[in-house]
Amino acid sequence: MVCSGKGRRDETVLLYDAQAQSSIGSIDKEGVVRLFDVRVENWAGPHAHCRPSEGVWVMFESREARSGGSFRDDRVLFDQAPDAYDRARPGYPPELIDDLLQRARLGPESRILEIGCGTGQLTRLLAPIGATMDCVELSAGMSRLARANLAAFPNVAVRHGAFEEWSETASSYDLITSAQAFHWIPPEIGYSKCCRLLSPEGLLALIWNLYEPSDDPLHEEIQAVYRREAPQLCRRPPDGVETRIRRTLSELRAFGCFQEPLILRYPWIDTFPPDRYADLLRSFSDHRKLGTMKLERLIAGVLEVIETHGGTIGRRQIAVLILAAARRQC
Ligand SMILES: C[S@@+](CC[C@H](N)C(=O)[O-])C[C@H]1O[C@@H](n2cnc3c(N)ncnc32)[C@H](O)[C@@H]1O
Repeated sequence: MVCSGKGRRDETVLLYDAQAQSSIGSIDKEGVVRLFDVRVENWAGPHAHCRPSEGVWVMFESREARSGGSFRDDRVLFDQAPDAYDRARPGYPPELIDDLLQRARLGPESRILEIGCGTGQLTRLLAPIGATMDCVELSAGMSRLARANLAAFPNVAVRHGAFEEWSETASSYDLITSAQAFHWIPPEIGYSKCCRLLSPEGLLALIWNLYEPSDDPLHEEIQAVYRREAPQLCRRPPDGVETRIRRTLSELRAFGCFQEPLILRYPWIDTFPPDRYADLLRSFSDHRKLGTMKLERLIAGVLEVIETHGGTIGRRQIAVLILAAARRQC
């Protein structure tokens, strides 16, 4: 069983799919199940395992669950390739950073908490304002590189550990932010802990760079390489921007700690030379699950295609900023 929701019997409960790392729907007090947009064929059936009992709704069993595995295992994969991650992963559009700084009214006196800072992709864009920044990062390798990358900023401290287990030394953050990382935090812990740690006027800013598939010949040929070398990665395409927004909205509403958020989108294209694109693929947790040999064969095939199309690849993405204020009574 990988999908469950917990809560009182008299309230709507969010269903969380641990393997997909996100909520997939909700069940209301009548026991009615609503799925957001899950590919239903992946599931044994919504009602088959629906069993309301005192205080707990136990839900769904995915077919994939029977082969074992958990998203908690996957997030440690980032520790295998911190250098590739550091070389390949982009930052975030300047317009997004400007909007964030303005709307959260950040300045040198502010206190910021960042969850899952990686090697500092967002951190280095916020650090120059001089605010005190605490960054909590699960991977030892990522933490080490983040400290090195941010050595010029004495206002930034990188703490190695899981956010869920982190005993905060301070509260009252003006901003809690997480770029490309909040889906790794169990939502039933993440939202309430953030709410507790925010100052009364503080904001939660969740950020993702989400891939927008293209159907030009280059991307079509790359898809053919995936079908040949890694068909398992074709079965579950990555979340698009609207799916991620919908899921995050549902979580924010279901956990009830936050007001309705502001949602801003920033389309942009990141252009990769072959080496950096190879590192990008090495930095994806789902790609790392292939194992080194299969992954490198996939990369070789993809690079061959890129070479025949001029030697660079443009990746269309939409950066999304979801900004929410905590409810006062939280
Ligand atoms: C996709 S990376 C994002 C890194 C960076 N923020 C960025 O914008 O590219 C996700 C990061 O979250 C970290 N992470 C995953 N689960 C975490 C947790 N429970 N607590 C803290 N960090 C976590 C991973 O180690 C990884 O560095």
